[in-house]
Amino acid sequence: MITSYEIFVPMLMGSGASLRTGLKVRQLLGCKKILLVYDAGLKNVGIADVIEDNLKNAGIEIVIFDKVLPDPPDYLVEEGAELARKENVDGIVAVGGGSSIDTAKGINVLINNEPPIMKYFGIQKNLKFGVPMVFIPTTSGTGSEVTNMCVISCVSRGNKDSVVGPVCMASLAIIDPDLTMGLPKKMTAATGIDALAHAVEAITGSQANPLSDALARDAIRTISKWLPVAYNDGSNEEAREKMILASTFAGMAFTNALVHLGHTIGHALGAHFHIPHGIGCAIALPEVIEYAAKTEWKKVEMICECMGAEIKEDATPEEIGIVAKNALRSFIKSVDIPNLEELGIQLEDALQVAPLVTQDTGFALIPYRITAARVAEMLKSAYDA
Ligand SMILES: NC(=O)c1ccc[n+]([C@@H]2O[C@H](COP(=O)([O-])OP(=O)(O)OC[C@H]3O[C@@H](n4cnc5c(N)ncnc54)[C@H](O)[C@@H]3O)[C@@H](O)[C@H]2O)c1
Ligand SMILES: [Fe+2]
Repeated sequence: MITSYEIFVPMLMGSGASLRTGLKVRQLLGCKKILLVYDAGLKNVGIADVIEDNLKNAGIEIVIFDKVLPDPPDYLVEEGAELARKENVDGIVAVGGGSSIDTAKGINVLINNEPPIMKYFGIQKNLKFGVPMVFIPTTSGTGSEVTNMCVISCVSRGNKDSVVGPVCMASLAIIDPDLTMGLPKKMTAATGIDALAHAVEAITGSQANPLSDALARDAIRTISKWLPVAYNDGSNEEAREKMILASTFAGMAFTNALVHLGHTIGHALGAHFHIPHGIGCAIALPEVIEYAAKTEWKKVEMICECMGAEIKEDATPEEIGIVAKNALRSFIKSVDIPNLEELGIQLEDALQVAPLVTQDTGFALIPYRITAARVAEMLKSAYDA
């Protein structure tokens, strides 16, 4: 069999790595004037200023785009791109969570391709390249710093969609666990579960390969051990370091293997109820993996093994699915991720999302047959679980 392996983004990783940003942007990429992309939260905690000073000290001219919003809306991407073109920047640096990094990617798409961004939703192999990009994640979740896609909210359609392709790849990812030390408890949990969802969906994904399996298994083992530690003690440096590494590994895994129904449900819930991405993806993940065991029970067995959940020797696919569902749910609950009921969402409203899931462009990538009625059953089972 011939397997396609996606190559990865070069990375500089470790405590203090972000203090080399200016040096790398100037020496490695040769940029003289960059667009610095971040959101108000990063400004408030002082991280944006540290990176800005570091770039300035390296003699780099900076144009700031600090309007990033969660679930980045298309109009802000278009506004940022207009600024980048007007200022003729020769590089982009994004510091922040997935929203900042994805906004930067969307801006890069539009530097040499006509807006609107929604024209480019889907797989895009032939878009004109933009400028070199450097991504500095401050959450341990999305893995966006190493993935080949950006997730953008389409305001007119009221949904989220992705641009996937080489134009979304960073020239360099600078991964510094120190920047996650102050990540609030709830964000630590939600983003950590997002990374777990990437890994378990990648393992059971339609395009999984031996490399993505290895990365995803390692990520699941690491997150199972270290997310509860980071959640209960945000100042634990080892836990922060392990979590940012795991989220990067999970991002690399799903760049190869793709994610599936857990994320499709998460995107539909996120667009409808405006809940954080990681929480949306966690809601029905246990049910999704239970369902995946019907066809992918060997892969689901791997997930259980990585999570330390025991499976008896002669277990049927159905029994393996139940063990995985229970292990995932109790882990998700251990970091206090709320279910739909706890989020204050009515069951009838939640069920209305089921047909939207099947309309998502990501739905075509789900590696097994599934109907809106089955998605509704999953939402019902997850509602107060
Ligand atoms: N491109 C991809 O491959 C990919 C993968 C998964 C998710 N996503 C997308 O990423 C987005 C979610 O990103 P996210 O979960 O990283 O959150 P986010 O970027 O939306 O940030 C959430 C909040 O956390 C704050 N924050 C971030 N880092 C902080 C820190 N170190 N200290 C204090 N506050 C901090 C931000 O200011 C913001 O208010 C969603 O839009 C999702 O669809 C993209
Ligand atoms: Fe995700």
